Order: sequence, then structure tokens, then C-alpha cells
Amino acid sequence: MTPYHQLETNALTEIKAAKDLPSLDAIKVKFLGKKGAITDLMKDLGRCTPEERKEKGQALNVLKQKVGAALDEKKTALETAHINARLAEETLDLTLPGRTKECGTLHPISHVIEEVICLFGEMGFILAEGPDIEEDYYNFEAVNIPPEHPARQEQDTFYLPDNHEGKKMVLRTHTSPVQIRTMLKEKPPIQIISTGRVFRSDYDMTHTPMFHQVEGLLVAENIHMGHLKGCLTTFLEAFFDRHDLPIRLRPSYFPFTEPSAEVDIGCSRSADGSFSIGHGDDWLEILGCGMVHPKVLENGGIDPKKYQGFAFGMGIERIAMLKYGIPDLRTFFEVEAGWQRHYSFETTAFPSLLTGLHGGLGR
Ligand code: DAH
Repeated sequence: MTPYHQLETNALTEIKAAKDLPSLDAIKVKFLGKKGAITDLMKDLGRCTPEERKEKGQALNVLKQKVGAALDEKKTALETAHINARLAEETLDLTLPGRTKECGTLHPISHVIEEVICLFGEMGFILAEGPDIEEDYYNFEAVNIPPEHPARQEQDTFYLPDNHEGKKMVLRTHTSPVQIRTMLKEKPPIQIISTGRVFRSDYDMTHTPMFHQVEGLLVAENIHMGHLKGCLTTFLEAFFDRHDLPIRLRPSYFPFTEPSAEVDIGCSRSADGSFSIGHGDDWLEILGCGMVHPKVLENGGIDPKKYQGFAFGMGIERIAMLKYGIPDLRTFFEVEAGWQRHYSFETTAFPSLLTGLHGGLGR
């Protein structure tokens, strides 16, 4: 029996009992570390007689090797056990269905707004903006609708409390106030479109309290109705994708334009009330337009003797319904998943709003 028999037994027993790698490390330190039991004994050899040193030294070397080998063996065993345990835990079920990503789709209104911006952008129009909560003055008076004018009753307005400056406020009933805001900010030539929400207190198959419009305004020198008709024809033919689209301008009345017109496109109506656009002997009203009234130009700070302009306004839902065969206006806002899947657009074929804009500005 070597003089270190007890130490060897202790070390090997502890190594055998080690449950994990950290405790095995601690055992290594305890016996073979800088201040470990075996290391200490080796240091003591210096104080022995040469004979003793030879004998004990050999025994200690054997012990050190045995303990080292036991540590290595246990380490391999613990590592293998650890990997096997993890593998058992992380079973991979190849029959599970994959986690797919649900992709959002574009609401038809967003899609049509992008379409409209893109088409007018091609013609050099740039995008202008105005607030939904609008001053009564910009919404009515500035566009030549005075307080006593019947148009104020026609447009059932959501009136709001006065703002902090004591100004009368409304939810804008149309996008036409953007005309005034733009003219007050910019000098001719002006060529803008503006899209956004408008509000009227009305609700049935063809009216919702909130809907969307696009407004167009072009102010420059020597502008006449031929420019207006050409611009709208280009847009409508491109939007409805028909080169021979029958278009007529029918005389009408709007306070902010003189002369005013309503634009109709050719269609045929079936007995069930559905339309087919582009041919047939019937007409369908699409939008309102006209030459900007001199008073409106003046209210926008523009000299009507020097400049003329044309303007137009169109309902986004209306043209979306016609183009994509959506029968009921109210369904746009009911957010019904099946409807959305049917009528929405996966990705837009049109450049984003910004690209559309820059396309227009770049010309
Ligand atoms: N603002 C009108 C409306 O809401 C639409 C309109 C008609 C706008 C003629 C115009 C225009 O700019 O010239 O019914």
C-alpha cells in the first residue's frame, strides 16, 4: 500500500461522485490546483532525504497521473451525458407545420389613392396637404361659399367648438380648402393634387359620414377649359384602362368654379343596376370640375386678371367602386376579413407615395 492510499481513495471517490462539470472542476482544484492536496505534498518533497524523495516522488507522480486520468475520463463522461440530455430534450418534430408569416394587404382605398397620386404625378402634379379639422373660413367662405349660401345646407357639416383663437371650426366637408391653403403659400404656376378624408353627416348605401376625395388645382397663365378636359381625359383613360373612354363635360354649378362642369363617362347599365364602363349609351357622373372662380383666386392672393386655373374634385370610394366592382360603399369601413381578402391588394403595383411625388417633381 502506498503512503497516499487514503488520499487516492478520497480523490477517486469524489471524482466518481461528481454530478456536473463545475463540481468536477472544483475537485481538480482541490487535488491538483496550485494549493491542491497533491501539489502541496509535492512541494514538501524538498524537505525529504534523497531516498525518501525518490520513493515518495514516484508514488506522488503515479497518484497525480491516476487522479488526472480519472478527471479526464469523468469529464468526457459528463460532457457526453450533457449532450445526450439536451438532444433528448430538443426533439425535432419534422411533421409540424411551419410558422408562416401573415402578410398585410392594402385596403382598396389606399390602393386607389396611390394609383391616383401616381397618375397625376406622371402629369407633373405634386401632393399638397390640408388638415381634417379645418377653419370654417377655408372650408366655406374662402372657396366662395358665403354663410347664407344654400351649399352650406347641402353639405351637412360637423361643426366643432371654436379653436383657441376663437375661430369657427368644422370637420372639412371637402378637400377644396386645400386650394386656398396652397395658393396662400405658393406662387403660380401651381399644380397640385390633394387626397384625404372628408366628413359629412350622412349615412346610407351611397353615403358614409367619412369618405375620401382627391382635389386637383392648376393655376398658371393662359389656362383654359381645354387644358382641364385634356388633363381629366388622360387621367380617366389611364385609371379605367380604356383609350377610347367616352367622356363628356356637362354644364353644372359649383360656387368655387365658373364655368363649372360635371364629368360623365360612357357606360351601359344592366337591369340589376350594375354598370359596365367604357361603352353603351348611358352616362355616369364621375367628378366635378371647372375654371377657378376669380374670387377664389383673389382669396388665395392671386391676381385673376393675370392667372387662370382649373380645379376638380372626385370621390375616391366612388371611382374605386366603379373600377373594382364594389357594390356597397359602407363595406369599405366595416373591416370584414372576408371582404378585405377579396378586395384588397397584395402589393401595390405603383411606386410608394414618395416615389410618385418625386416622379412628379422631377419633371
Ligand atoms: N368640392 C366639391 C364637392 O365636395 C367637389 C368639387 C367640384 C371640387 C368642383 C372642385 C371642383 O375643385 O372644381 O362636392
